[in-house]
Amino acid sequence: MSTTDREPRTRLDVLDEAGRKTLFTEARTANPFAATAVVDDELAAIWEMARWSPSAANGQPLRVLFLRTRAGKERLVRHLDEGNRAKTLSAPAVAILAYDVDFHDQMPTVFPARGERLRAVFADQIEKRESIAAYNSALQTGVFLLAVRAAGLAAGPMAGFNRDGVDEEFFAGTSWRSHLVVNIGHPGTDPWFPRLPRVSVEDAVAWA
Ligand SMILES: Cc1cc2nc3c(=O)[nH]c(=O)nc-3n(C[C@H](O)[C@H](O)[C@H](O)COP(=O)(O)O)c2cc1C
Repeated sequence: MSTTDREPRTRLDVLDEAGRKTLFTEARTANPFAATAVVDDELAAIWEMARWSPSAANGQPLRVLFLRTRAGKERLVRHLDEGNRAKTLSAPAVAILAYDVDFHDQMPTVFPARGERLRAVFADQIEKRESIAAYNSALQTGVFLLAVRAAGLAAGPMAGFNRDGVDEEFFAGTSWRSHLVVNIGHPGTDPWFPRLPRVSVEDAVAWA
C-alpha cells in the first residue's frame, strides 16, 4: 500500500468556502477607502496573525509602522507616486512595511538552537543580510496582506513610492528599510479597478 492510501496521523483543518473567498478568491485590492475608522486593536490583531508567518531560520525581518493620523499620512504622501496619494489620504490606517537589516541580532531569541552562531556569521555580511531580509520580509508581507483580509478589512499595497525618501522621513538612524506601503480600511465608493486575469494552471504549474 502506498503512503497516500493511509489516513494522515494529524488531520489539519480545511478552510471553508467562506474563508477562501475572504482571503483569496473574492478578496480585492482597494483604492479609495471609506471614512470608517480602524482602531488600534484591529491593527494589533493584524500583526498578531501576521507574525506567525514562516521565515528562513525563523529570522522574521519584517517590521511595521502603522500611521493613523492625518499628520502622519501627510508626511508619507509627499514620497508617494502621484497616483497613489489620494487613496492613501482616504485610508484610515496605513502600514509602512520595512525589513530590519539587523535582524540577525534577534537570532539568539528567535532561533535558540543556533542563534548565537548565526548572529556571529552574519555580523559582517551586510549585503547578505539585506538580501535575506528583503526576501523573507516579502514572504511575511504576503501573510500580512492575508491577515488584513482575515480581520475583515481591505488592503491596498503600493510599491510606487520613493524608498530613500520614506526611510529618511521615518527610519533615519535605524536599521529599518521600507519596501511596501499598505493602505488599510473599509472599501470606499467604487473601490475596485476591473479584476485582472490570473495566470492559468497550465501556464504556471508543472508536474513531475
Ligand atoms: C508589491 C505590490 C506593489 C503594488 N504597487 C501598487 C502601486 O504602486 N499603486 C497601485 O495603485 N497599486 C499597486 N499594487 C496593487 C496591484 O496592482 C493589485 O494588487 C493587483 O492589480 C491585483 O488587484 P486585485 O487584488 O484587485 O485583483 C501593488 C501590489 C503589490 C502586491
